[in-house]
Amino acid sequence: MADQAEELKKMMQGKPEQARQEASPKLPPQRKTRIIAVTSGKGGVGKTNISTNMGIAYAKMGKKVIVIDADLGLANVNVMMNIIPKFNLYHVIKKQKKLSEIIIDTGYGIKLIAGASGFSKIANMTSDERESFIQELYTLAEADIIIIDTSAGVSKNVLGFVAAADEVVIVTTSEPTAITDAYGMIKIIATEIDNYDLNLKMVVNRVNSALEGKKIAERLIQIAGQFLNLKVEYLGFIYNDPAVEQAVLRQKPFFINAPKSRAAACLRHIVSKLEKTDYTEYSGLSGFLQKIFGRKWE
Ligand SMILES: Nc1ncnc2c1ncn2[C@@H]1O[C@H](COP(=O)(O)OP(=O)(O)OP(=O)(O)O)[C@@H](O)[C@H]1O
Ligand SMILES: [Mg+2]
Repeated sequence: MADQAEELKKMMQGKPEQARQEASPKLPPQRKTRIIAVTSGKGGVGKTNISTNMGIAYAKMGKKVIVIDADLGLANVNVMMNIIPKFNLYHVIKKQKKLSEIIIDTGYGIKLIAGASGFSKIANMTSDERESFIQELYTLAEADIIIIDTSAGVSKNVLGFVAAADEVVIVTTSEPTAITDAYGMIKIIATEIDNYDLNLKMVVNRVNSALEGKKIAERLIQIAGQFLNLKVEYLGFIYNDPAVEQAVLRQKPFFINAPKSRAAACLRHIVSKLEKTDYTEYSGLSGFLQKIFGRKWE
């Protein structure tokens, strides 16, 4: 991990904004796009569902959203939306396409940059590949929000995406292994990305009560504070909700398939916490036109 630490330190030397300016001199001085990475220690805890549906919730607020499936081994954001992309990150990393050229409309109000599936060779990008990917990421200035759905666990790729983000949402469930791995992830982020203004947030997924989520978050936040001197903010919980599984089976995001579900309500709460405002869906004339013609923001 030592080389990774050095690499990330170099990459993120100084303030993140300064690093971005250096990485992409064409950018205007104030980057408006907010980059949110969704990650976890343990796999299968709900990152892809949260990234996709959070993106849709943001889009319904009137934000321009791009979701990036940063899984380079087993990509599946597109599967959740029943989309078969022509191009994906494989083509970007192999320099056959630019990131901006492979953005696709999902029909759900968000745009998608699909991950690469079944190419084990690129599951680990070289540091040059990773750096040029991150530089390209900062050029996607058209979006208000970029949500990066990472693969689970610690890898150079994941840490690279985490370091490139403004905010990092760590997802855990109440399973002891998921909690332990979430702490492990926080610890690695804290030690590997030390020259970075960490903005860590936590979501507890698949809980049976609000209290269950709160207790788990409080425990993790307390340990992170005590042992890592790190502040982690609790964004909220998502109920264990059959509507999520049903939506996955139907290959339709639950926020669309079951907008009245408990999971969708929890997600609205999480987005409003992230935005520090009440959750309101986009309305007014353009909202009305949007409903008629579908959301298009290009
Ligand atoms: N709140 C929930 N309620 C019920 N089931 C859920 C919930 N969240 C996730 N699931 C179930 O867990 C499965 C895994 O979720 P998801 O694919 O989003 O996890 P992931 O963290 O992205 O996994 P991976 O690490 O493999 O990328 C989903 O297919 C769904 O069936
Ligand atoms: Mg996933």
